[in-house]
Amino acid sequence: MSRSFWLGGCAASALIICGPAMLTAQEDPAERSLVINGEIEIVTEADAPAHLENLSTIRSGWTFRSPETQTMQMDDFDNPATLGVEAARAKFSSDLGNGESCASCHEAPEELAGVRAVYPKFDESAGEVQTIEMQINECITDRAGAEAWDYDKTDMINMSALMSFVSRGEAVNVAIDGPAAETWERGKEIYYTRYGLLELSCANCHEDNYDNMIRADHLSQGQVNGFPTYRLKNAKLNSVHGRFKGCVRDTMAETFSPGSPEFVALELYVASRGNGLSVEGPAVRN
Ligand code: HEC
Ligand code: HEC
Repeated sequence: MSRSFWLGGCAASALIICGPAMLTAQEDPAERSLVINGEIEIVTEADAPAHLENLSTIRSGWTFRSPETQTMQMDDFDNPATLGVEAARAKFSSDLGNGESCASCHEAPEELAGVRAVYPKFDESAGEVQTIEMQINECITDRAGAEAWDYDKTDMINMSALMSFVSRGEAVNVAIDGPAAETWERGKEIYYTRYGLLELSCANCHEDNYDNMIRADHLSQGQVNGFPTYRLKNAKLNSVHGRFKGCVRDTMAETFSPGSPEFVALELYVASRGNGLSVEGPAVRN
């Protein structure tokens, strides 16, 4: 399935992919700009990082959503993800199970501002690339001596949302060289591998066909700068790996699990495709 296969109206395939929806300039969501609470300016479009061969411009998923969905993210009072952030704030200073809390070592969540923008990152002591969720669990188990949180459950997703929240507006800047290079290459390989009965890779949808319609969805570039995302579809916060799982399943393939080395590598690679966009999580999406 080459790029030209899709061009020209709707391509006949197991999935119906059509040309871009017709929009007038005034209502084109891609032309709007995102400022949160009237003060945090978010870069939703930028030049592609040098390592990206097939794209010249990168765009946040926000630019592909409807004006109504976009607006929900422009004020924390309208963003349903704020509830998860508030829950994580309370959790931050509550007992992890043995008398210690995040706050015993990190005074306030704001002390961790900016951290999100460089994750996933290589951790010297662990000798591996870690997502922010792995880093949080390392604190809980190795540093506080408490029991790990489930990678893809509410407490962890909320805490991850809080870590994004305090980093909003920072430019995504994950390292892809040095000790992270091997994991990044692995992630890139997964990104371009065709999976499932439909034989579709991440790139087939999010690189070759972004801005086109797939069924009722306006396809984005599949960026992760807005994660965790509050999805209107399932009315909850969704992790990066939860989203990956859904996308792999849609190709009718066996999926990897949240927290697996494959998804960690894929997250590093996908995050690097967004280097230059702002951290905007927790975002609102369909
Ligand atoms: C017993 C002390 C301790 C506790 C409890 C603790 N941390 Fe940490 N945390 C650390 C130390 C030490 C580091 C490493 C500091 C550094 O990298 O500069 C760290 C690093 C981190 C980082 C990565 C910072 C970076 O720059 O990469 C995050 C995120 C983090 N902690 C979040 C949390 C959260 C959320 C909790 C509660 C669930 C928590 N920590 C509980 C001690 C703790
Ligand atoms: C059959 C097409 C298809 C394939 C293949 C696919 N996705 Fe998606 N993906 C979608 C659709 C549709 C959405 C929802 C609309 C959007 O944001 O693009 C989505 C959303 C996403 C999002 C959320 C973006 C945001 O801003 O919230 C991410 C991240 C993502 N995909 C990553 C991936 C990755 C990584 C792969 C490969 C493992 C992949 N997708 C494979 C169709 C696909």
